Amino acid sequence: MFLVVYIGHNTQRMMNEQLNETIEAEVKGLGEQYSQGGIRRLIDVVERRSRQPGASLYMVTDYSGDVIAGNVAKLKGTMPRDPEIPIQIVRYLRNGADAQPQEAAVRVFVLPGGFHILIGRDISEGKRFREVIQSASRITIAVVGVLAILSWLFVGRRVMKRIDAVSETGRLIMEGDLSRRLHVTGSGDEIDRLAENVNAMLERIELLMQGLKDVSDNIAHDLKTPLTRLRNRVEAALREEPSEEGYREALEATIDESDQLIRIFNALLKIARVEAGSPDGGLERIDACEIAAEVAEFYEPVAEDEGVTFTSEICETAPVEGSRELITQALSNLVDNALKYGFPPKAEGEEDGENEKSDLHIALSVACEGKEVVLTVADNGSGIPEADHDRVLRRFVRLEESRTAPGSGLGLSLVHAVARLHRGKLELANNAPGLAVRLILPKVG
Ligand SMILES: Nc1ncnc2c1ncn2[C@@H]1O[C@H](COP(=O)(O)OP(=O)(O)OP(=O)(O)O)[C@@H](O)[C@H]1O
Ligand SMILES: [Mg+2]
Repeated sequence: MFLVVYIGHNTQRMMNEQLNETIEAEVKGLGEQYSQGGIRRLIDVVERRSRQPGASLYMVTDYSGDVIAGNVAKLKGTMPRDPEIPIQIVRYLRNGADAQPQEAAVRVFVLPGGFHILIGRDISEGKRFREVIQSASRITIAVVGVLAILSWLFVGRRVMKRIDAVSETGRLIMEGDLSRRLHVTGSGDEIDRLAENVNAMLERIELLMQGLKDVSDNIAHDLKTPLTRLRNRVEAALREEPSEEGYREALEATIDESDQLIRIFNALLKIARVEAGSPDGGLERIDACEIAAEVAEFYEPVAEDEGVTFTSEICETAPVEGSRELITQALSNLVDNALKYGFPPKAEGEEDGENEKSDLHIALSVACEGKEVVLTVADNGSGIPEADHDRVLRRFVRLEESRTAPGSGLGLSLVHAVARLHRGKLELANNAPGLAVRLILPKVG
């Protein structure tokens, strides 16, 4: 619309200027003729020019108003005589033309002797041009309007439909079907990207919900056994012949069992706190080497008592941002596991009896690798099959062959949570034979 109006307006202006210039030139030319040859000559020239094809408009009248020369047969109304207005618009009839009056822009001069001379140009062409511009504007408005309505119908309705589908899926998910996902059309547009992100979020929520469900299932399952055992023991003590010795023993066993339960609860709470990112004492700048040295110092006599070889290889310094208590606990859990499960696999045909621990070798090491601090606890025991590496990190997961050793399956879960809290990683690797657990923490400064 703007373009049509702009072009129309400017063309109109240009045409007007041209018109004025033409009239100006005619006026000048005729003026010269008049001053050279008087009214006679002027009339001659007017007559001659009037007959040329595409001529301007000329009309010469005498004092009584009769037309004495020119190609204008008649003016609608009287001859304009106001010299104040240089260019005026009049309606006229051309000599020998049809009876339709046309519009013209004219100038009028009064000459001595009552003669009037009118010089002008037809402007019906400009009028036609204006009409063309106006009809172009009307067509533009109509086409743009129709296109706008069509695109509103098409785009608007399509987008609305997709948003409707999103909210419908949202409703179904709210009703409990967490496995549902928003439809992704694959066009990669904004709604698609939104759907992808929402789907990723749902994926994560579903995973968390599943984890929560697993934990509650596990808690229910794993706490039922010790509680049942506790109850049976008390019941058995009551059934037996009443004796102080018997009751005392039963009570002591009950206390032990309850302590174990309390330990499990404490471990669970600790993991939950670490996973929520709020460890006691917060994070501070500490030296992983110092912590490892302390753990090594603590476990060396324990290992010696059990006849296990324990070596440690600790670098000079490994600064990390972390919780001293949690990293100590994590390393202790790992060494504890190595001591518990690290007995070497039995050779073929060996007697199924007391496991030999004298061949067991546990190595604790701390090293800086680029921007990471790697704390490794390795043993040469039975190891964990590759397929179970992820599984053992979950709460309450204990491998079948470890069921005889005391434990609740929470040790590695805590180490994993500690690694995540420190924005680090926990890697389990085959030590061929045995297990090597790498706790990788980001190094600071
Ligand atoms: N060094 C290891 N060698 C072989 N198996 C291991 C080793 N460390 C862990 N495992 C296996 O991984 C399981 C999970 O270990 P985790 O430390 O989480 O629990 P746990 O030691 O059984 O109990 P908790 O540590 O709570 O007392 C263990 O039951 C064991 O089967
Ligand atoms: Mg353990």
